[in-house]
Amino acid sequence: MRTQVGIVGAGPAGLTLAQLLRAEGVESVVLEARSRDYVEHRIRAGVLEQGTVDTLVGAGAGERLRREGIVHHGIGLQFGGERHRVPLSQLTGGAAIVIYGQTEIVKDLIAIRLDAGDPLHFEVEDVAVHDVESDRPRITYVHEGRPQELECDLVAGCDGFHGVCREAIPAAVLTEFWREYPYGWLGVLAHAAPAHGEVVYCNTERGFALLSLRSPEVSRLYLQCRPDEDVGEWPDERIWEELEARVAVPGYTLNRGPIAEKGVTGMRSYVAEPMRHGRLFLAGDAAHIVPPTGAKGLNLAISDVTLLAEAIADWHRGGKAALLDAYSDACLRRVWRAEHFSWWMTSMLHRPPDADPFDLQLQQSQLRYVVQSEAQARSLAENYVGVAGAAALTAPGARTPA
Ligand code: FAD
Ligand code: PHB
Repeated sequence: MRTQVGIVGAGPAGLTLAQLLRAEGVESVVLEARSRDYVEHRIRAGVLEQGTVDTLVGAGAGERLRREGIVHHGIGLQFGGERHRVPLSQLTGGAAIVIYGQTEIVKDLIAIRLDAGDPLHFEVEDVAVHDVESDRPRITYVHEGRPQELECDLVAGCDGFHGVCREAIPAAVLTEFWREYPYGWLGVLAHAAPAHGEVVYCNTERGFALLSLRSPEVSRLYLQCRPDEDVGEWPDERIWEELEARVAVPGYTLNRGPIAEKGVTGMRSYVAEPMRHGRLFLAGDAAHIVPPTGAKGLNLAISDVTLLAEAIADWHRGGKAALLDAYSDACLRRVWRAEHFSWWMTSMLHRPPDADPFDLQLQQSQLRYVVQSEAQARSLAENYVGVAGAAALTAPGARTPA
């Protein structure tokens, strides 16, 4: 079998790339290790930057997003028992965020691809990438018990942090940057109307908590826990009590409801450089991970594939490789801005397990400064809505777009 672009992974990065390439007349085959049901129900991100929304709408995946996505113009920051508002739109000349679940994006993109009859294979096994340094890279895999080989012009490694594509880059070429955090998030999805109008980040003596949502009927809530925390130790009643203890402020009552899903996520920062080797291009979590406190992971994945699709289309149209050659550096400028922001939010908001009193005073001082100083609040807002990331894409020496 042959295709123009072999895409490994049907997460947001792989599916969006396939759809963007289709719009440019470039063929692809998408290979996914898990079942359709599994990828459609893996609950993760929920906060989309405007640039992410624009890409999805441009890719033809915006119909339900525009109808059901909830536009937010601010976020809450709670500490010292008080809730403050960071007016994102006011501080960024009108930018906003949109609340729409990653699961819904994935469902929308899968439906579009399958309706169009384009190749998307689930439950493939033993995926391996070969000959990426040649001009005929190949992907081998097993599908429905039969070994397969796919010859490609290019391979897109969109297979997440635990995928296999990154391994095809020789160790001598790859530089990896790491930071592990002593925190995990216990995340729950509850059929309870969110009593908070906006996403609220809470720094408390009992640990971090996050109030988020998916719809007017569904709350998405997180509690800081140990990275190896056993979910079995968290019956629903304990979750609600702990949330109430952490998020309580005068006049606010958390709505309770049936908990549909709960899980623990560890937290790390990670970057692999370069994001390209020969004819293999990494995108999304395959190349970089951020702790979820800045809500950047999905947005970075979509921003990578937006650049990659443009570069591939340019190359296919006129044989020009300039954008492909610039891909890794262009992505990494934005990636490092998001790495810094996510590390900063994580450090400012979580309770370290061995809480040193000096560090705790620094955290409180930083939080007070963010809500008191317009410059500090604007910096947070620009990073949160993604305009700081867009500015980071601008070549050094160029003027920052207004
Ligand atoms: P993935 O979603 O990991 O997709 C990779 C795909 O590749 C998967 O389907 C996987 O099954 C498949 N795969 C793996 N190995 C193979 C193989 N060998 N062969 C074939 N297929 C393979 N980000 C935000 O922007 N905003 C948020 O609010 C946010 N909140 C988050 C909350 C939590 C609790 C978590 C865990 C993450 C959050 N993120 C958030 C991060 C975001 O979910 C990820 O960054 C995003 O999923 C990355 O997309 P991706 O397509 O690169 O990778
Ligand atoms: C979510 O709604 O899942 C969410 C919101 C904000 C974050 C991370 C996750 O920072």
